[in-house]
Amino acid sequence: MSLHPSTNAPPNAAIAAIILAAGMGTRMKSALPKVMHPIAGRPMVNHVINAVMGLANIGGHKEAKIVVVIGPDMAVLEKAVTGHTTVQQTDRLGTAHAVEQAKAALGSFAGDILILNGDGPFITTETLQRMITHRHDSEAAMVVLGFRPDDATGYGRMKTDDAGNLLGIVEHKDADNAERAINLCNSGIYSVAPNTLFPLIEKVSNDNLKSEYYLTDIVEIARAQGLKTGFAEAPATEVLGINSRSELSGAERIFQDRARLAAMDGGVTLIDPTSVWFSADTVLGRDVVVHPNVVFGPGVVVEDSVDILAFSHLEGAHIRSGARIGPYARLRPGADIGENARIGNFVEVKNVMLEKGAKANHLSYLGDGSVGAGANIGAGTIFCNYDGFNKARTEIGPGAFIGSNTALVAPVSIGKDAIVGAGSVITKPVPDEALSVARGKQTDMQGRAPKLRAMAKALKEKLKKQS
Ligand code: UD1
Ligand code: CA
Repeated sequence: MSLHPSTNAPPNAAIAAIILAAGMGTRMKSALPKVMHPIAGRPMVNHVINAVMGLANIGGHKEAKIVVVIGPDMAVLEKAVTGHTTVQQTDRLGTAHAVEQAKAALGSFAGDILILNGDGPFITTETLQRMITHRHDSEAAMVVLGFRPDDATGYGRMKTDDAGNLLGIVEHKDADNAERAINLCNSGIYSVAPNTLFPLIEKVSNDNLKSEYYLTDIVEIARAQGLKTGFAEAPATEVLGINSRSELSGAERIFQDRARLAAMDGGVTLIDPTSVWFSADTVLGRDVVVHPNVVFGPGVVVEDSVDILAFSHLEGAHIRSGARIGPYARLRPGADIGENARIGNFVEVKNVMLEKGAKANHLSYLGDGSVGAGANIGAGTIFCNYDGFNKARTEIGPGAFIGSNTALVAPVSIGKDAIVGAGSVITKPVPDEALSVARGKQTDMQGRAPKLRAMAKALKEKLKKQS
């Protein structure tokens, strides 16, 4: 049977996605909406959105319009999906009722519609495109994504025939024993033909054991109207939903294992892969070597041939080619580490650009400032950037040498090729090529050490007698 041509747009036309995220996820036992819990530093719902947005690249879809159905008091979720439409479902009357909330927002939209769950972060763009293409090629009104879990308990079961038709979906609670024996389960992801979804939704009733408006009912409603309904399958790992903190940690592990493999496939050496943790947006060049126990927070870009030594923690940092970081380095947002530069053990860098070849090898805090090419920051140097009220910058010129245990009280600048003596507290600008020392003068009292020891010994004996 063939649909009316106007309801079967080509698979590369504009698409819209409705993402269901109104549930708080009571099993998370959290003040945060469930879909806001992060995997690899990114909220689950944003993983889902990225999969949908990817359709513009692989399927050539001209537009991917996203409507997120949220619950009451979910301002943090609204903020996380800024740029996309949100609609609020006030009473949670079921998945069909949730979808219906998107009707006004989608208005006269006349392309394909996808429905997804906000708590299924592993869905891939490729699978979504495969569903859309299959729906289009088979001229079906909808295609539902199924999977075969080890344990089907709780899932809707998909009734199919040998011709690839989906006959209906029955919820676990409403299923009889024969239906429960079916192991093809509903993932909750649907691809629906243009101009088809909302007329079907209107016909859904809540005549079932949970008294909810089940989205799954649209399959049988469509068939009763003579429409064709089909299905596609995906691996269970791709459609798994997160409902508890332990499932969240399982999902994190799956994500990290994939990210580690992807890094190695891209030309990165991970000496001990399972001890390296990535963010969803980590970018790594070729011939990067990551030693054990390194954590990449959000926003890290690493160029080619960088070594990151053990126990380093990086976040919001750009590391340019040939640089060496760690061991035990901490890079915070705004750290920009130049080509062949060195950041050594127990050095913290925040909002500082180090130019090519600059070095800070030991025990330092560099916060808010810049370090010129080839400058050398001695052990124990502190950029005193904060007076309790204001932050100020420290600018160090190229080729400068900062002696050990120096406090640079910002705002302050050190000139090109200047030298600062160890132990200085620098509060005024140091001119280019100057040698500046700012510390107490040394006095040498000849022969006084033995006398001092004798006095101390006598005092100790006197106190002993008294007690
Ligand atoms: C649903 C499907 C089931 C499928 C399973 C896959 C129905 C009736 N059942 O069951 O066939 O196997 O997902 O995980 O659709 N939501 C709202 N508003 C509501 C109700 C739900 O936004 O009123 C959201 C939830 O936050 C969640 C999603 O919809 O993200 C699924 O709802 P949930 O209650 O978890 O459905 P299941 O009973 O698991
Ligand atoms: Ca569920």
